[in-house]
Amino acid sequence: MAAISNLPVAAGIGLRAPHVREVLASRPAVPWFEVHSENYFADGGTALAALDRIRGDYPVSLHGVGMSLGWTDLLDRDHVAKLKRLTARVEPALVSEHLCWSGVGGRHFNDLLPLPYTDEALDHVCARVAQVQELLGREIAVENVSAYVAFGESTMTEAAFVASVARRTGCKLLLDVNNVYVNAINHGFDADAYIATIPSAAVAEYHLAGFEMSGACLIDTHGAPVAADVWALYTRTVARIGPRPTLIEWDTSLPAFAVLADEARTAQRILVAADAVAA
Ligand SMILES: [Fe+2]
Repeated sequence: MAAISNLPVAAGIGLRAPHVREVLASRPAVPWFEVHSENYFADGGTALAALDRIRGDYPVSLHGVGMSLGWTDLLDRDHVAKLKRLTARVEPALVSEHLCWSGVGGRHFNDLLPLPYTDEALDHVCARVAQVQELLGREIAVENVSAYVAFGESTMTEAAFVASVARRTGCKLLLDVNNVYVNAINHGFDADAYIATIPSAAVAEYHLAGFEMSGACLIDTHGAPVAADVWALYTRTVARIGPRPTLIEWDTSLPAFAVLADEARTAQRILVAADAVAA
């Protein structure tokens, strides 16, 4: 399969601390791992030493959860500097962040909050993405987030907003298929129309994760298997956009590593089947 980033076009796993020892000991046949950048911002320590060893055997993607690209406070240059130092050490195949905001007026929230989909917010976040890419000296991928609120001020769809960020900044997209599905159900839009709006050439990675139900609302907990409807949407997405590196994310109620490996094998089968159809 042709690569659009330096990650293999195959199904990798989000590596979380409870699984690190097992991965180091057993060196499982996983094509690549993704880690949360901020967990490795310290200058040294056992976590970073373990990541060095894993990087010796696997391609690694650095996925940020704390840059707050969309907030109106000044860009946190110290955060970007730490990420740059980590990228110099790890030489990741991909660096990604969320298209969101996580605070205001110096206050940080532990949430990846959606932006208003307006021209003003688009100008703002595109300038930030460009600034981060310049400071890092490399392209980043930005990820669509799950959302439980929407702004009445929005003048465009989420998909049009995400697509515009990629077109205007030249950044790549990390298309979280579960987030598209969760938002489609919660906000009542057509998930396939969303996927059709995304520029294929910009998509560098897919995410898959599990949600849980709270009444009629889907909550993106990353604490469950990928749902059947999300597998179906992922299959249609891969057929439309093409096979891309795909990550199984699981962050709460973390199961045995073998469960994640099973989920990754399912994604791998879908990637391989789509590639065979395209060939
Ligand atoms: Fe994600």
